[in-house]
Amino acid sequence: MKISNVFILIAYLLLTSSMTIEAKNLDSGAEIYSDRCVLCHGNKGMGDGYIPMRLKGYPQTSLFESPKATDKTALVKVISKGVLIDTVNEYMPPWESELTEEQISDLADFVSYLRSDTENALIMLEKHTRKLDKTVRDGRVIFETRCALCHGKLGLGDGRMARIIKNPPPADLTKSILTPHQMGLIIKLGGQEVGRSPKMPPWGDFMTDNEVNAVVDFIDTLKD
Ligand code: HEC
Ligand code: HEC
Repeated sequence: MKISNVFILIAYLLLTSSMTIEAKNLDSGAEIYSDRCVLCHGNKGMGDGYIPMRLKGYPQTSLFESPKATDKTALVKVISKGVLIDTVNEYMPPWESELTEEQISDLADFVSYLRSDTENALIMLEKHTRKLDKTVRDGRVIFETRCALCHGKLGLGDGRMARIIKNPPPADLTKSILTPHQMGLIIKLGGQEVGRSPKMPPWGDFMTDNEVNAVVDFIDTLKD
C-alpha cells in the first residue's frame, strides 16, 4: 500500500470511530432518558410526562419551551444538581448521586440532540420507550420506573420526591396494612378517589390489571 493510502485509511478509521462513539453516546443518553426522565419530561420531551399531567400546579417540564440550559456545560450542571441550583424548580431532582458523570454527559448530549434534530432523536428514543412498554409487565420494572421516585427503591417511602411531597409523604409500602385488593384500588384510582392524598397519582389509564397485580405482588416481596 502506498504511504498516502495508509494515511487516508487511518484518517478514515479515526473519523468513523469517532462518529460511532458519538452515536453510541446519544443512544445511551436516549436509553437513560427513557428510564429516568420520561415520567416528568414525557416520551417526547414536551413536558407531557405522567407526573405533570396528574399533579395539579406542577411546573412545566417541556425541554423545548423557554429553555434555560442551552449549552453542554449548563445542561450537565442542571442534570447533575437539579433543585440544588437556586434558580431551578424543586421538582427537578439532582442526578449526580445516582448517575455517573459519563451517563450525565450522554444525557446532556441527548437533550441537545432532541432540541436540534428532534425528528431523528425521537426515532432513537422511541426504540427505548417501546422496549419499556414491553418489559413493563414485570412488577419490579414498573415499580422502579413509576413508583420508586416517590416511594423509594425498597418501598420505604424515601424516594427523592419524598423531600417535596409531605403531609402525607409517600407511604412506606413495607408497612402497608392494605389488602391486595385495597392496594390495587389506590394504585388504579389514585389517592384522591379513595379519600387519600391526591399526590398519589392514579395509574389506571396507564397500567393493565395484570400490571397492577404484578406491582402489588412485587410490593409484597419488599415486606420481608
Ligand atoms: C420528578 C420530575 C422530574 C424528573 C424525573 C426529571 N426532571 Fe428534569 N426538570 C423537572 C422540572 C420540574 C424542571 C423545570 C425546572 C425549572 O424550570 O426550574 C426540569 C428541568 C430540566 C432541565 C432544564 C431545562 C431548561 O433548559 O430550562 C433539563 C435539561 C432536565 N430537566 C433534564 C432532565 C433529565 C435528563 C432527566 C432524567 C435523568 C430529568 N430531567 C428528570 C422535573 C423532572
Ligand atoms: C408523585 C409521587 C408518587 C408516585 C409516583 C407514586 N406514589 Fe404511591 N403514594 C404517594 C403518596 C403521597 C401516598 C400517601 C397517600 C396518603 O397517605 O394519603 C401514596 C400511597 C400509596 C399507597 C398506599 C399505601 C398504604 O398502605 O396506605 C400505595 C399502595 C401506593 N402509593 C402505591 C404506589 C405504586 C404502586 C406506585 C407506582 C405505580 C406509586 N404509588 C407511585 C405518592 C406517590
